[in-house]
Amino acid sequence: MPLIEWSENFSVNIPSIDEQHKKIVHMVNELHEAMITDKGNSVLGKIFGELIQYTKTHFSYEEKLFQTYGYPEAEDHKQSHDALTSKTMALQKDFETGSTTIMFEVSDFLKSWLTNHIQGQDKKYAPFLSSKGVT
Ligand code: FEO
Repeated sequence: MPLIEWSENFSVNIPSIDEQHKKIVHMVNELHEAMITDKGNSVLGKIFGELIQYTKTHFSYEEKLFQTYGYPEAEDHKQSHDALTSKTMALQKDFETGSTTIMFEVSDFLKSWLTNHIQGQDKKYAPFLSSKGVT
């Protein structure tokens, strides 16, 4: 059973962004699955690294849209992205220095992040970006 089930509750009703969020959900589930089936550190490290990279790309995509259309809450939103990136990279460092149990913290953290950030701050920009014609 996946750690996170995609549902319409996650949708921001902007297809390009929903697709990216779905991919992040998929990657978090993949990481969780690798963890509970004892895939080993090299596999976990690879999936985790790819997830971090993809998430950074996604954050940049949103921030570029904010900049292009002058989203008024861009600064607060970017600060959340930066905090989430820092935390995830700190967890990656802990993992690389030998703690495998850290992965349980990682999946808990990512699950709550996805739920809180997407359903909170991301949903907040949806009407604004939709009104600008972003799809
Ligand atoms: Fe979809 Fe603000 O991250």
